[in-house]
Amino acid sequence: MKRLNGKSALITGAARGIGRGFAERYILEGAQVAIADINLEAAKETASDLGKMAYAIHLDVTDQSSINAAIEQVINQTGKLDILINNAALFDAAETVDITHESYNKLYAVNVAGTLFTMQAAAKQMIAQGCGGKIINMASQAGRRGESLVLVYCSSKAAVISMTQSAGLNLIKYGINVNAIAPGVVDGEHWEHVDAVFAKLEGKSKGQKKAEVAAGVPAGRFALPDDLTGMAVFLATSDSDYIVSQTYNVDGGQWMS
Ligand SMILES: NC(=O)c1ccc[n+]([C@@H]2O[C@H](COP(=O)([O-])OP(=O)(O)OC[C@H]3O[C@@H](n4cnc5c(N)ncnc54)[C@H](O)[C@@H]3O)[C@@H](O)[C@H]2O)c1
Repeated sequence: MKRLNGKSALITGAARGIGRGFAERYILEGAQVAIADINLEAAKETASDLGKMAYAIHLDVTDQSSINAAIEQVINQTGKLDILINNAALFDAAETVDITHESYNKLYAVNVAGTLFTMQAAAKQMIAQGCGGKIINMASQAGRRGESLVLVYCSSKAAVISMTQSAGLNLIKYGINVNAIAPGVVDGEHWEHVDAVFAKLEGKSKGQKKAEVAAGVPAGRFALPDDLTGMAVFLATSDSDYIVSQTYNVDGGQWMS
């Protein structure tokens, strides 16, 4: 049985990586999915790969008018919004003494303000519809504890966990469940970037950081987007109606809480 039949979902940062994986699975489960990304060309390619249940939307989560326009496009396309996955994010790393305002502002604009104001716009739409809704924020194991070179990204993901708690408590009175997923390490373009950043900062060869990190995962390997999609489906169905403000680790055993 398709578990998301007739549902309308908006997934930010869905042109590639984990967001694309979520879109693929949601479509298999019967949902219509907005592939919303700052990179419209890539979003269009992804939507065309995923077939007629997917459509591309340009969205910059740092821009309120772009967020409003994206919600409007979802409504024009499908008539409603049932599910938001707040997935777009940026990564950076630096020695604490080398962190710049530019890096801080860039990451916080997407990972924190982008998550907050996209969630807010989706919640307003869901409240107006009067039938509840599901909001899933992408946190990270990085939000559970600091990492020596990753202060800005880790703190931004800790903020996602905290925002999920407060928004979940505030919005459940409308039947809107806000929860989060905290992955560990997931293979894809994002980790190619992370590996390159660490190669530069720690003088490692290409692929070395990735191999070291993989060796430390209790499950013995990086995740693939597919390892996360079951949780994203569960949190979008009525099976999760009584789950409020939680962040679920889907990380191969890296973190326990
Ligand atoms: N990959 C991992 O190991 C990992 C681990 C833990 C958590 N996460 C989280 O999972 C989510 C997805 O990660 P990923 O690995 O697929 O990342 P990714 O970098 O591969 O994809 C991110 C997408 O977001 C888009 N994007 C960037 N800025 C945007 C903006 N301003 N507005 C709209 N879209 C924008 C990008 O164009 C890209 O398509 C992120 O929130 C990330 O922090 C990833």
